[in-house]
Amino acid sequence: MEFGTRTIHAGQPSEPNTGAVVAPLFQTTTYQQIAPGEHHGFDYTRTSNPTRQRLETVLADLEGGTKCAVFGSGLAAENAILQAYLKPGNAIVVPVDVYGGTFRLLHKVFEPLGAIVERVDFSDLAALERAVAAKPTLVWLESPTNPRLLVYDIEAVARIAHDTGAIVVVDNTFATPYFQQPLSLGADLVIQSVTKYLAGHLDVIQGAVIAKDAAVFEPVKFLQNALGGVPSPFDCWLTLRGIKTLELRMERHAQNAAAIADVLTKHPKVKRVYYPGLPSHPGHEVAKRQMTGFGGMVSFELDGTPEEASAFVSSLTYFALGESLGGVRALVCLPCKMTHASIPPETRAELGLSDTLIRLSPGIEHPRDLVADLKAKLDALAEIPELAV
Ligand SMILES: Cc1ncc(COP(=O)(O)O)c(C=O)c1O
Repeated sequence: MEFGTRTIHAGQPSEPNTGAVVAPLFQTTTYQQIAPGEHHGFDYTRTSNPTRQRLETVLADLEGGTKCAVFGSGLAAENAILQAYLKPGNAIVVPVDVYGGTFRLLHKVFEPLGAIVERVDFSDLAALERAVAAKPTLVWLESPTNPRLLVYDIEAVARIAHDTGAIVVVDNTFATPYFQQPLSLGADLVIQSVTKYLAGHLDVIQGAVIAKDAAVFEPVKFLQNALGGVPSPFDCWLTLRGIKTLELRMERHAQNAAAIADVLTKHPKVKRVYYPGLPSHPGHEVAKRQMTGFGGMVSFELDGTPEEASAFVSSLTYFALGESLGGVRALVCLPCKMTHASIPPETRAELGLSDTLIRLSPGIEHPRDLVADLKAKLDALAEIPELAV
């Protein structure tokens, strides 16, 4: 079955009692038991719920896994993996570039509890080999990364990590399973901020962990119930609704990102464009090999002052200035003051996260409107900068 068919049919038969083609929403906390301890497979919604279970079946299928647990946010999903595998004294190796919230979780929550967090440049495989010699329990990466859209070779990273027995976790939020299948590239666990492209409509906060192997998955599944960071059945139902159009939305997001990257590379007020679809992008060849498209995100550095960058992101017509990404409506963000503000300024500088780095998440609007909006506001900055700030 092709991907777009699976988003609609995988684990989603018509409801047997009524024939309803859309699964009913089981908005219930508990279930009447037949006799004490004897029930119909569900006893309490934190532990299990038919709507959530349906979503877990779909997500496992789309990522090419066999198991999935969904959580109340992407960070709750990350927390469950870290609680399961990053005990005091254990080490994790992560790339220099990770989502700010992941950085905060590792350095402000797990490091004080005794975990060892080692950050290396994953594009330098020799450096990665040296780092894993210390036998970390986890090797964790995003690809493409947030916000600079760096691309790492997942297959090579997994091979190096597995040689030392580490579990490989890939945050597949930016690519989505439509453009990239980390489990087939060797990852053991995939995490998704479902909040983004999978739910897709900017109305759900949710996360997921997907696995191929039951033994690696089981400790995470246990913590879904034991920690309790589960989403509501209604949010699961909304995601099931949103995910049906994932293929169509991703195609348009990607078309918009490509059109925007093209215009940005030619503009005099743009210093540098980060988009894996550009042949000049350092990860372009790896992206071509491990992804079936270049995704829907574009970041760029404005050739201007931080004040100009702030004025620019506030001036756009169709791009709402806001956190998050991957929704039907275009969003723009200034990571240094928003999504990545929790990273200390000196570390941001080390990571190349400049104060004029702008992250764009084109929605599914028409590309002509989005391009015209960006171009008009950049032209205004180029012509009369004093009016624009
Ligand atoms: C790549 C990435 N991973 C994880 C998260 C965390 O997800 P959530 O906001 O759903 O907790 C985010 C949020 O922006 C993200 O961009």
